[in-house]
Amino acid sequence: MSDRTTTPATLDDHLDATRDARLASLHEFLRIPSISALPEHAADARRAADWLADALGTAGVENVEVTETSGHPVVYGDWLHADGAPTVIVYGHYDVQPVDPLDEWTSPPFEPVVDGDRLLARGAADDKGQIHAHVVAAAALLATRGRFPINVKYVFEGDEESSSVPLEGWLTANQHRLAADAAIISDTGFFDGNIPAITVGLRGLMYAQIDVQLSPVDLHSGSYGGAVNNPAIALAQIIAALKGPDGRIRIPGFYDDVLELTEVERAAMADLPFDEEAYRAAVGVSALVGEAGYTTLERKATRPTLDVNGIWGGFQGEGSKTIIPAKAHAKVSTRLVARQDPHDVFEKLRDFVLEIAPPGVEVSVHLLGTGRPTVTPIDHPITRAAARGLEAAFGRAPVYRREGGSIPVAATFESVLGLPVVLEGFTQPHERAHAPNEWLDLGNYEKAIRAIVATFDEIAALDRTGGDRRSTDG
Ligand code: BES
Ligand code: MN
Ligand code: MN
Repeated sequence: MSDRTTTPATLDDHLDATRDARLASLHEFLRIPSISALPEHAADARRAADWLADALGTAGVENVEVTETSGHPVVYGDWLHADGAPTVIVYGHYDVQPVDPLDEWTSPPFEPVVDGDRLLARGAADDKGQIHAHVVAAAALLATRGRFPINVKYVFEGDEESSSVPLEGWLTANQHRLAADAAIISDTGFFDGNIPAITVGLRGLMYAQIDVQLSPVDLHSGSYGGAVNNPAIALAQIIAALKGPDGRIRIPGFYDDVLELTEVERAAMADLPFDEEAYRAAVGVSALVGEAGYTTLERKATRPTLDVNGIWGGFQGEGSKTIIPAKAHAKVSTRLVARQDPHDVFEKLRDFVLEIAPPGVEVSVHLLGTGRPTVTPIDHPITRAAARGLEAAFGRAPVYRREGGSIPVAATFESVLGLPVVLEGFTQPHERAHAPNEWLDLGNYEKAIRAIVATFDEIAALDRTGGDRRSTDG
């Protein structure tokens, strides 16, 4: 990736001179369909890991390895020659979400297309573009200065989009060599209006499936209708009971452990430059709807939610078929906030669903996945250094905001490695992560590279200005 034959004097010159090469490299990375959830793409996940390891090695990062886990490989690499300077772990994921519905893409998801300032491809924003910016920053630093200002340990995983469970095992097994002062996670985005942001809270997740079974086989709706229950209706009744018209979740005890925002936190959120009508229009919905008593910003980042992610059963073909289906199913998930525990919430959901299950059907609930919520420090010196790094590159101080999405491994960095987490991500809002026509703002990508370098420089400067990075890590 770096062009060692020319080695221009300054980082800016170097980045200007290597723009085409890095875009070609990013395209190459995006062409690998590393969908973690689909077993038929396991070899592609490995190819993406190998590609990334190769790029890190070419950049000059040391001790690069592709290690096995219980899932897809973890890519590790480090550069540890900044004696006495802080050490950060840089985390991101090379896996991507499935691409369906394929016919809604304007170009094939793994054939990147540049459209003005947008680069269209699955994974362009979430998260390959962001980790590519890190690799480019590493290459640029080593090509122009021959060194990093701080010590860096890269950890890139391939299971984030399907749980991060394998990485959690890997982090636990490798904790002795992951000692650091902080973990920088680049897997979040900017505030609405493309305002640079540091994320200081992520929601957790509890994902379950509800299965309702009536009979061993579908029944003729004329012969049996009226004499038996209907599993789709029973399922609809169960789901309808989970949430009230006021947007409150009706599972007993669901809100027990929710940490309410303080008045100061609510005031800070209310101060964010949020244009609700522009947001509504950008999402493409007719109205914004949510829990009574909370603002849209609060609802989508600081309050727990319950949603149905998918529901099916019975006849789905064209025309009509007169049956009472044998079974019906729903995927139901909740986004959780501090200090809710996903396993506890699962038990509460399961107990409630079984309690209200209508007669004449067999109802079961099983857990599909969990992730813990996290609130990250707003005032840690490394958070503040990242904020200065963002400001240097984007010309505007970032806002601090919470995010409704989940990065389950953030809580693991905190609990297993004991590290403060800094969520410094670079994507535009509305970049269609997980959806058809995902895109990356190439302007943000270019500035992200500079922001990463500036962040490292700011972290290095902490030591020289009195060692304030030690204020919270004892
Ligand atoms: N990068 C996202 C997390 C995220 C979402 C950050 C929205 C900022 C805004 C991450 O890749 C993701 O999609 N996480 C999943 C976690 C799940 C698969 C366990 C999520 O939030 O659904
Ligand atoms: Mn992501
Ligand atoms: Mn994602």
